[in-house]
Amino acid sequence: MTELSLLQEKVENLQKQVEDLQNKLHKQEKMASLGLLSAGIAHEVQNPLNFVINFSKLSNRLLGELEEVVEDNADKLAEDDAEDMRDIASDLKENLSKIQEHGERAISIIQGILLQSRGKSGEFLPTDILHLIHEYVWLSYHAMRASDKSFNISIHEEYPDTMPRVMVIPQDLSRAVLNVMNNACYTVKERAQQQEAGYSPTIEVRVTFQPNADASEGELRIALSDNGMGMSNEVKERLFENFFTTKPVGKGTGLGMGIIREIITNAHHGQLLLDSTEGVGTTLTFVLPVKIVR
Ligand SMILES: Nc1ncnc2c1ncn2[C@@H]1O[C@H](COP(=O)(O)OP(=O)(O)OP(=O)(O)O)[C@@H](O)[C@H]1O
Ligand SMILES: [Mg+2]
Repeated sequence: MTELSLLQEKVENLQKQVEDLQNKLHKQEKMASLGLLSAGIAHEVQNPLNFVINFSKLSNRLLGELEEVVEDNADKLAEDDAEDMRDIASDLKENLSKIQEHGERAISIIQGILLQSRGKSGEFLPTDILHLIHEYVWLSYHAMRASDKSFNISIHEEYPDTMPRVMVIPQDLSRAVLNVMNNACYTVKERAQQQEAGYSPTIEVRVTFQPNADASEGELRIALSDNGMGMSNEVKERLFENFFTTKPVGKGTGLGMGIIREIITNAHHGQLLLDSTEGVGTTLTFVLPVKIVR
């Protein structure tokens, strides 16, 4: 090889490095502006959410008054009508409580984002972990069903019979469960659309807990399996890259897995295990060292 071609090769290598660095920089800039943007959005969304919560509280009180009016005038109403009114009022009250409950949860998620953008980390709190997981698994399921009532998934949950309260960052862990569950729902739905004969979309949630000898700490495993599309090698390699998504615009931002990794490995000092086969499905397991609450 002549000296000239050696030099040329060097220059090409350097050019490639510069390109890589430029790409990295570009991504960092994107992340930084996204951080600012999400903090701004979080801040502004708090106000309308407060309206939602306060008006549902107010409506709940008004319904109480309406119920009293019905009771006071029960003798003037046909028995069936009075009964119907009581049923409807009690359903409405339940719905309003749900609006309030989920509104408050949204506020706490937003406050989590704001705290993070101010550089503070989430707080470890004594947590009923099985309750948290169950709730967020079904929250994701219902969110998906809200946009497509005809689609069904069988969800199997396998939890230990007893489970002490443990120290985790509940706000973060619930987001991690939600993100995995959202991916699982999406992939089984995608596979169902291919209309394979006999395909039945299934998601399994398995939790195990192994306390140490003096029951002060333990290892918590949360495994979520789906029988969806599975991941190709390329997807596996790029899975945690921010903005890496195979979903169409509007369906995914490619941030979910990065957030999950941040929550599990950095915030909770745990491990993320991935087992995925194309055409078979995916299992993602969180392995978390946790303190037991006495
Ligand atoms: N359970 C899964 N089965 C198959 N592929 C998956 C699964 N989970 C993630 N992936 C693949 O990894 C990619 C990245 O996932 P990630 O959660 O980071 O982003 P996203 O789901 O595309 O968007 P976002 O979560 O930000 O809305 C997905 O686009 C998908 O291709
Ligand atoms: Mg996702």
